[in-house]
Amino acid sequence: MSNTSQDMPPAGEPVLSLRGICKQFGAVSALTDIDLDVHAGEVVALVGDNGAGKSTLVKVLAGVHQATTGTMTFRGQPVTLAGPNDALALGIATVFQDLALCENLDVVANIFLGKEMQPYALDEVSMEIRAWTLLNELSARIPSVRVPIASLSGGQRQTVAIARSLLLEPKLIMLDEPTAALGVAQTAEVLNLIERVRDRGLGVIMISHNMEDVRAVADRIVVLRLGRNNGIFYPDTSNQELVSAITGAADNAVSRRSGRRQAAQHNVTGEARA
Ligand SMILES: Nc1ncnc2c1ncn2[C@@H]1O[C@H](COP(=O)(O)OP(=O)(O)OP(=O)(O)O)[C@@H](O)[C@H]1O
Ligand SMILES: [Mg+2]
Repeated sequence: MSNTSQDMPPAGEPVLSLRGICKQFGAVSALTDIDLDVHAGEVVALVGDNGAGKSTLVKVLAGVHQATTGTMTFRGQPVTLAGPNDALALGIATVFQDLALCENLDVVANIFLGKEMQPYALDEVSMEIRAWTLLNELSARIPSVRVPIASLSGGQRQTVAIARSLLLEPKLIMLDEPTAALGVAQTAEVLNLIERVRDRGLGVIMISHNMEDVRAVADRIVVLRLGRNNGIFYPDTSNQELVSAITGAADNAVSRRSGRRQAAQHNVTGEARA
């Protein structure tokens, strides 16, 4: 693997640093000694097999679970999160996998849903303008902000959920499987959206099982395995290498298939691929 991308300094200031984060659920160690850094203007993909601890880590960062031990530094300050409101107040936003949108309410209502914690109350017109501004900043393709969520496509719903998470101007946004349920075009649109969020200078953590999506948008790829760090990679890492880190096995169906493909390609083109 080439060393060029590893030598590049990360994009901006560190937004988040975790050191030695452990999370026990009774006798189960969901997370052990996790270190993680996210910088401003950086997309970090969090990957790992089922049960690797990805969602648990996101929930610790969202204030839903409290870490058993370990330290968290956010924008240079040591912090502890007693609950989800602490995370939101600091500027950590989460788009959970189920999106938690209300089907029967329109886009504006969904964007402002549960934001009673704001010090100011907005009237309908101001809310509509704010909703449009947010969606325009994301170059989102939503036909109208007055249509119910039920009438939107999966990609459009994801867009609304992302816009909603940006309402409180967070510094870090976490997306759990943002493209899992989407088709090709909608996936591309959501990945574009993630790039736009990054370009606004936010730190982004994206969980995904799709290595193609990860490679398309991530600046760094953090692998978890059995609740532990199992390597940091870059988008130029081969699929085989990533799969090995994720599964802990050098020999598996994916690596064998990719080996066969490379051998076949070699035979067709006569070119050796390093
Ligand atoms: N509330 C809980 N109580 C007990 N054990 C839990 C709890 N939440 C998670 N775990 C355990 O912690 C481990 C990590 O789970 P987690 O949901 O974080 O994995 P994941 O990487 O998100 O997996 P997936 O890709 O399937 O979503 C698993 O062994 C899981 O059973
Ligand atoms: Mg999960």
